[in-house]
Amino acid sequence: MARPQKRYVCQACGSATSKWAGQCADCAEWNTLVEEAGAVVTPFAARHDLRSGGRPVVLVGLDAETPLPPRMATCIAEFDRALGGGMVTGSATLIGGDPGIGKSTLLLQAAARMALAGRDVAYVSGEEAADQVRLRARRLGLGMAPVRLASATSVRDILTTLGQGAAPDLLIIDSIQTMHSDLIEGAPGTVSQVRASAQELIRFAKDRGTALVLVGHVTKDGSIAGPRVLEHMVDTVLSFEGERSHQYRILRAVKNRFGGTDEIGVFAMAEEGLAEVANPSALFLTVRGDGVSGATVFPAMEGTRPVLVEIQALTVRLASGATPRRAVVGWDAGRLAMILAVLEARCGLSFSTAEVYLNVAGGYRIADPAADMAVAAALVSALAERPVPSEAIAFGEVALSGEIRPVAHGALRLKEAAKLGFGRALVPASVAEAGGPIALAGFRTLGQLVDHLLGRD
Ligand code: TYD
Ligand code: MG
Repeated sequence: MARPQKRYVCQACGSATSKWAGQCADCAEWNTLVEEAGAVVTPFAARHDLRSGGRPVVLVGLDAETPLPPRMATCIAEFDRALGGGMVTGSATLIGGDPGIGKSTLLLQAAARMALAGRDVAYVSGEEAADQVRLRARRLGLGMAPVRLASATSVRDILTTLGQGAAPDLLIIDSIQTMHSDLIEGAPGTVSQVRASAQELIRFAKDRGTALVLVGHVTKDGSIAGPRVLEHMVDTVLSFEGERSHQYRILRAVKNRFGGTDEIGVFAMAEEGLAEVANPSALFLTVRGDGVSGATVFPAMEGTRPVLVEIQALTVRLASGATPRRAVVGWDAGRLAMILAVLEARCGLSFSTAEVYLNVAGGYRIADPAADMAVAAALVSALAERPVPSEAIAFGEVALSGEIRPVAHGALRLKEAAKLGFGRALVPASVAEAGGPIALAGFRTLGQLVDHLLGRD
């Protein structure tokens, strides 16, 4: 047996020789040649034949015509909105969410409505028997929809069945963790099984122009169970969120190769399934009374849509020297710490001996930085036990310097507030200068806002 030839590779430039030397002949670096296994490969640049023998690749300009991908309406406007205008044919979508949040319900409703609109829809459940799904459809008032329903878990069986004749326009797999591919070993739900099953299903969808929807369970830490690679394999990842104890649900695009990820779909879980919520503001505003301190209304932006939510703060003075608690639901804990620090350092308000609780009503989650000023107003109001006027909203970003920064979509936020009957807004100075449909109080610094709330201006 021939001994493998020795090979020395320069760790700086990558060139390889069959003889060791103190200095690399190509890049002149010293002591960079290291022995590696394998035969000497002719250096890249010396292989002139690389420039022939390949097939031509089509190169186009950025300004070339781009045909829009064909889309199908899901017949549920809020679902279409989250997808960026309907389902793309030949694409794969993953919907993740906690168990019991309503993934099966949403997809069954979409499947039935699309089937009623004349689409060929197949719904494969690996979790429930066909009877159970049929009963649920009947309870949702969709029992007569011509959906092709199956209870199966073998990917080979499913694809063999659907591969005969015309492929369906829409194929729903509920859930990917129950699917099993006989191409590889392992129980359903294991990383390799989930990946292999998804791969086969996605290949079928791309080949046959079927829109594929995979349901994915979410683990306790919030990621979709199975390989992270599943999220890379699909074109769109949607997350179905909400508190099971609350009725509302939000469908959010986390990844979308065919559209933006800033639009959400809002639903309410009712007796007869998921109802669309076209005006979410009314849903998140709890019944508000006058005279309660620590509450502010904040107009959050969700994509192009403002959603009014109530921010509630509670402070409890501690007698002992124990470390006070800070608890946040629906907002970023780090951001709360920052606002508390700015209130302390720039406005002289100390929360160091008080426990602070912050809650966004309705179980809603805010990611919009414009919430800073509304949170600050709620905190000041709670600490001073002075209510923020109930007909007022607040928004603006707070900088570490204590300055209040303008935020995007000021006009849209004010318009939504006016629509819902709010008469006043506490806003950054530049927003106030531009004017709006309701009375505006503008602030340049957090100190000015504090003075205003405490009646010192
Ligand atoms: P489901 O769609 O099965 O959740 P997932 O597929 O995400 O696990 O929804 C389950 C919950 O929804 C269940 O607890 C009952 C509730 N529900 C309603 O309140 N109304 C309805 O019409 C339906 C079908 C379900
Ligand atoms: Mg389910």
